[in-house]
Amino acid sequence: MPPESVLVTGGAGYIGSHAVRQLLDAGHRVVVVDDLSTGHRWAVDQRATLQVGSVGDRPFLDQVIAAHGVGAVLHFAAATVVPESVAQPLRYYRNNTAGSLSLLEACRHAGIGRFIFSSTAAVYGAAGGERVSEDAATVPINPYGQSKLMCEQMLADTHHAVGGDFRYVALRYFNVAGARLDGELGQATPRATHLVKVACEAACGRRPSVTVFGTDFETADGTGVRDYIHVEDLVRAHLDALAYLDGGGEPVTLNCGYGRGYSVREVLATVRQLSGVNFPIEEGPRRPGDPAAIVADASRIGPVLGWRPLHAELATICQTAYEWECRGLPGRAVE
Ligand SMILES: NC(=O)c1ccc[n+]([C@@H]2O[C@H](COP(=O)([O-])OP(=O)(O)OC[C@H]3O[C@@H](n4cnc5c(N)ncnc54)[C@H](O)[C@@H]3O)[C@@H](O)[C@H]2O)c1
Repeated sequence: MPPESVLVTGGAGYIGSHAVRQLLDAGHRVVVVDDLSTGHRWAVDQRATLQVGSVGDRPFLDQVIAAHGVGAVLHFAAATVVPESVAQPLRYYRNNTAGSLSLLEACRHAGIGRFIFSSTAAVYGAAGGERVSEDAATVPINPYGQSKLMCEQMLADTHHAVGGDFRYVALRYFNVAGARLDGELGQATPRATHLVKVACEAACGRRPSVTVFGTDFETADGTGVRDYIHVEDLVRAHLDALAYLDGGGEPVTLNCGYGRGYSVREVLATVRQLSGVNFPIEEGPRRPGDPAAIVADASRIGPVLGWRPLHAELATICQTAYEWECRGLPGRAVE
């Protein structure tokens, strides 16, 4: 038997590619399953094996799992654009919910009992101004959040049915941003709508302006407030979660954020300041499915996983994202 591999779905995408790198650096063998719908072949570290295909394809998954001796799964693969999920809900239920169902069935079939799931703060819906804890009601206000919440339910029900043979950590990410500090990886998601990325694109001259969607929210400056977490800190939580499961940890659902919120205007001001570029800012209407404010109660993850943030300053998040953006993607010159 070859040594056990970790299966990373969506490992050619933004967060998944950072996870692949950290796993390899920590000595894991890694196999990536990605359909390259928004991911990139170049983003997958060459020490990992990339298998191009969909998590919705059971025979393909069975073959990959058997061939690579997969012992644990980090499941990042998903479609992630909230307004798109409002317009095309069934696409989101198929890719995110049915895709996860297919992956879970493959895991059960192969006897894989350790699973780490990329969930989202979108499961909380319009949570209001307070910090939101894992015990808060889950009432998604868009199909994206609903598609992810249904996956959490499948994980819980599967554990309930089989007990210790299937244990998981569901990580509810808040707003992930930033890039590796060595500049080797960052976000290259096509048509990304994430604020920090969009602002950095504008600062690098890749888009003419940034639109603020909604200036009449009930927040201090009227714009949306989010809890931004550096991608490297977030990914480290996955390695901590894997160690937790390896050590026999019980299933758990944890917020991944820093517990403090920044408004859209504060983020834009930070990127303008660090880049020295006063890119134009336009004001537009709210987007469907966007809550006013959502900030994590992040008190649980540290004690449970032993996780500790290392890059929590907004300036670090924006600076690394800006440097990555200015570098240009592999194969594309900086304009
Ligand atoms: N970026 C954030 O702020 C954020 C916040 C909360 C949760 N998340 C979750 O984190 C995960 C990763 O998001 P990301 O920002 O890296 O997005 P991304 O689009 O960069 O990465 C997603 C990856 O999954 C792949 N993929 C999509 N559907 C697939 C399928 N059916 N089969 C195989 N591969 C498939 C894509 O090609 C891509 O490489 C997602 O599950 C997302 O819901 C992200």
